[in-house]
Amino acid sequence: MADYIAGPVYPTPGLAPPQFGVILWGVAPLQIHRKKISMTTVLINYGHYLGLAGLFAGLALELALFRPRVDGAIARRLALADTLYGLAAVLVLVTGLLRLFAGDKPASYFGVNFIFHIKLTVFVVVAFMSIWPAMKFFGGGRAVDGVEHTFPSAVGILLRIELALLLLIPLLGTMVARGFGFRG
Ligand code: HEM
Repeated sequence: MADYIAGPVYPTPGLAPPQFGVILWGVAPLQIHRKKISMTTVLINYGHYLGLAGLFAGLALELALFRPRVDGAIARRLALADTLYGLAAVLVLVTGLLRLFAGDKPASYFGVNFIFHIKLTVFVVVAFMSIWPAMKFFGGGRAVDGVEHTFPSAVGILLRIELALLLLIPLLGTMVARGFGFRG
């Protein structure tokens, strides 16, 4: 357990007394609290960032490799890239839930934050959008070198939409972490 450090900022009543108040861009009234942050919390947050990096790496690989007609060798790489994407999504989800229910802020902090709800909704939409491409990539996992493998071109469109939506999520997460999204 680290010594007391200046913890992140949130206007939740009933926790550590605020040391001083900050107004960020004149929009989000924030208070700096002193709070014990354990190494476990640090590792959970690290896992969340790692998952985030894996998501973008997997999706970027898919976008770079994807063509409606590819050689079997590329189809197998697409299956691998999608496995990375899927594993990263699980890591982000598990560490996200840990941050939510066992992190350095109480779950009630997030429950009343509408930006957090938008963030979760975007994540769920992307998760649903990725099911059909995943089934197609899984099918290419056993493709043979030198034999052409085909994918519906709509898969490429879905990948681009997923990327656009995913790019929003770190912005929303960072806003929540900095105290945006509370009404009143
Ligand atoms: C079900 C999925 C997810 C859950 C439950 C979740 C939950 C959380 C929680 C509780 C926080 C802490 C915010 C705070 O300290 O105020 C957080 C921060 C964050 N999350 Fe997520 N998250 C999820 C998915 C994602 C995804 C998919 C991404 C990126 C693609 C992401 C990116 C971030 C970022 C950038 C932060 C801000 C970290 C910081 O500035 O301290 N999250 N998330």
